[in-house]
Amino acid sequence: MPDIETHDFDILIIGAGGAGLRAAIEAQAKGMRTALVCKSLLGKAHTVMAEGGVAAAMGNVYSEDNWKVHFRDTMRGGKMLNNWRMAQLHAQESPDRVRELEEWGALFDRTKDGLILQRDFGGHRYARLAHVGDRTGLEIIRTLQQKAVADGLKVFMEVKVLRLLRDADGVVSGAVAYRRPTGEFLSFSAKAVVLATGGVGKSWMYTSNSWESTGDGHAMALWAGADLIDMECVQFHPTGMVWPLSVRGILVTEGVRGDGGVLRNSDGKRFMFGYIPPMFAAETADSEEEADKWYDDHTAGRRPPELLPRDEVARSINSEVKAGRGSPHGGVFLDIASRRTPEDIRRRLPSMYHQFKELAGVDITAEPMEVGPTCHYIMGGVRVDADSTAATVPGLFAAGEVAGGMHGSNRLGGNSLSDLLVFGRRAGEGAVAFAEGRTGSVSLDEAEVAAIIDAAVAPLQREGGENPYAVHQDLQRTMQSLVGIIRTGSELEEALGAIEELEERASAVSVGGGIAYNPGWNMATDLPSMLTVSRAVAQGAINRKESRGGHTRDDFPTPDAEMGKVNFVQRIEQPDAAGVLGTPSVRTIGVGPEPLPVMPDELAALFEEAH
Ligand code: FUM
Repeated sequence: MPDIETHDFDILIIGAGGAGLRAAIEAQAKGMRTALVCKSLLGKAHTVMAEGGVAAAMGNVYSEDNWKVHFRDTMRGGKMLNNWRMAQLHAQESPDRVRELEEWGALFDRTKDGLILQRDFGGHRYARLAHVGDRTGLEIIRTLQQKAVADGLKVFMEVKVLRLLRDADGVVSGAVAYRRPTGEFLSFSAKAVVLATGGVGKSWMYTSNSWESTGDGHAMALWAGADLIDMECVQFHPTGMVWPLSVRGILVTEGVRGDGGVLRNSDGKRFMFGYIPPMFAAETADSEEEADKWYDDHTAGRRPPELLPRDEVARSINSEVKAGRGSPHGGVFLDIASRRTPEDIRRRLPSMYHQFKELAGVDITAEPMEVGPTCHYIMGGVRVDADSTAATVPGLFAAGEVAGGMHGSNRLGGNSLSDLLVFGRRAGEGAVAFAEGRTGSVSLDEAEVAAIIDAAVAPLQREGGENPYAVHQDLQRTMQSLVGIIRTGSELEEALGAIEELEERASAVSVGGGIAYNPGWNMATDLPSMLTVSRAVAQGAINRKESRGGHTRDDFPTPDAEMGKVNFVQRIEQPDAAGVLGTPSVRTIGVGPEPLPVMPDELAALFEEAH
């Protein structure tokens, strides 16, 4: 073994957002020697960007709500591309996961009767999002982190994992990583590994994601031979800040619309009434008067069109801007000021109030916000078994955003926090069961560890190469302009060509300075995963010749019944030969359709009943 820091655990969890922490709590509770590795500081995860609430059919505000309605909403929101079993488990188990958080100290907002208060969000039939003002993700992270640390979890902060390692039988057995500040390398051996690395947003220019979201888990799973599904399904949240440019993309919570905020164009018109799709026509109000009545009584009226699923709202905003009816800085107006009192706004949306005041000089209690779509979430991800979260490579598990299937082609707001709680716990359980059944000691291949380290330090040893930031910037431009909200075959092919060139450039970058405290080198180590994931998104998008949820093809503008029955699966046939850092990423990711799991009749009947 190269002379590096080595560690051995039963369970290695990569990623310290909600899914990773919840998995860790489960593994610890079962007595496993558990390590949690996170690229950033503990407590700083994209989970905090799910601001408006956690979706769970608790029925606290509308007793009519139950898991079946939540299941149906989730499947319809995902345009039926979801893994039905994941959607079922999610809807059934999320209320218990929320109540458990409360037992562990989370302080949710309350109804008058002292129950957990639930608010409206797009695509949810009833007010269903348990929340803490507009800081729900933060409260969840705080709660989970406190519990995990109190239970004695071993945490490795500011550690970036470079590659997963497999043993001679192809079972995942650990990982190679480095400490971001100092550049010191580490290896972890483990009986089971859980990926909880979150999303991929940093491949786009405008994103709600922060610097950590470089698709490391998606890429490492693929490099290790696991399947990815439906990578073309990327969510553009309808409302990100558009101005000032320096903060473009920062999230404006859907809670603003859930609490009554409306979208207007430059003519002052509530334009969403013009974009109600047939699928949701029966349940969506078609006049302002009817829409506004709904806020008083959901059982009497129909939902306002501002609360259509995110894919619909984001495309509508895009169309208004394209038609020349946008706001001065290329978005539309989101108005809560004329709909709620200043006291209400400051109480229910404190973060939004401060965010606009401090970053844009806008007082949202008095004037509208300018908002536009921002890359927020990837629905595609590691193909997993619904019950255990096992990936298609033994020893590997995945939960939260890095896992695919749960949300189909479009995720409903609030379903990410419940997803990471439900499947974080299941990933912990699944990994423990696997680890308990694994006999013998786990060993790592020294030569492989050395090769990974050599590839990682190569940019520091190379001279005269390009700056990694230049490659990243061009990747973001490519993905933003050619693989954005609206896609066409020719632009996607162009994107794939551009990504190939960027892969070449990435393999030749050089970085000045030493290994310690070197953000340029950190960026160089992030490029392979961003490029692999971008390639997978572009490839998936080329193959899915239809429009469905977060994937819109201008040249195939409607859903296709046959494509609605398949996942696009991506896989590398010879995983050991691919993905070594410093090589031009992966040129040979296979992609093809495979049938979706078939929903049992009793669940399919729920959709008939709704009709
Ligand atoms: O708008 C939001 O608060 C985001 C929530 C989510 O992505 O689930």
